Amino acid sequence: PLVPVSQLLAAAEEGKYAVGAFNCNNMEIVQAIVAAAEAERAPVIIQASQGAIKYAGLEYIVALARLAGETASVPVALHLDHGTSFAQCIQCIRSGFTSVMIDGSKYPLEENIALTNRVLEVARAVGVSVEAELGKIGGTEDDIHVDERDAFFTDPAEAKQFVDATKVDALAVAIGTAHGQYKGRPELDFDRLAKIRQLVNIPIVLHGSSGVPEEDIQKAITLGVRKVNIDTNLREAFVDGVKEAIEKNPREIDPRKILGPAKLKMSEVIREKIRIFGSNGKA
Ligand code: G3H
Ligand code: 13P
Ligand code: ZN
Ligand code: NA
Repeated sequence: PLVPVSQLLAAAEEGKYAVGAFNCNNMEIVQAIVAAAEAERAPVIIQASQGAIKYAGLEYIVALARLAGETASVPVALHLDHGTSFAQCIQCIRSGFTSVMIDGSKYPLEENIALTNRVLEVARAVGVSVEAELGKIGGTEDDIHVDERDAFFTDPAEAKQFVDATKVDALAVAIGTAHGQYKGRPELDFDRLAKIRQLVNIPIVLHGSSGVPEEDIQKAITLGVRKVNIDTNLREAFVDGVKEAIEKNPREIDPRKILGPAKLKMSEVIREKIRIFGSNGKA
């Protein structure tokens, strides 16, 4: 069965590593994630974004992830990435997600707290964990496009106020990462992360982690990051694989001969990430 994310994050806290949360949109991606996690003996989080739900449909995502949870030899969880409303979180909880993110980061603090608490009240009752976001993470975030200038970092004092008022399970913070590809090297505000973590003793989530140098990810993990979100690097690997397969044989008409190698390439990238996060050998 799909396991609660809180269980995976508690073990990560204990072992001082981070669990990889990989975005999935179709069967090939779910299979790539599970194959990588099994090869590395790692617990893993499969997550679905707004775009994924629109593309595949909620039922397909849940069916694929459930099957992964039932058949995988490592713990697998299913998480809603950047949930946009109370209604959507409840739909996902009812459909079998073991964790939801309610992203109230675009609202004023008090509203974000109130929204998160509404979701928490239901989620708690059924053992589902909740991730919230404070501060705006740059890049393309679902329907909101936050450009670099408007993006603002998480305030440590507000983070404490937020966590005290909600007792949320995990907190996504804005410390300089962005969704999508980086133009240069991202500059992470590690002092801010250290301050936040000192004030809120809960697992921290790093979004926009594709393209963040290995040593920065590992430093963030030493400072309390316990869930690392990766999407863009998986997309890149998959599309590279597709292009390579087509270039190798432009006359190929069997999609399996194109998607198969792409899936393998994606799985290799996931394995590398798992080793960077230190979650290998933890399942
Ligand atoms: O957080 C954003 C993720 O990279 C997913 O984006 O809605 O295009 O699937 P998406
Ligand atoms: P990247 O696409 O930059 O890896 O970000 C993924 C993410 O944060 C999903 O919530
Ligand atoms: Zn994100
Ligand atoms: Na990124």
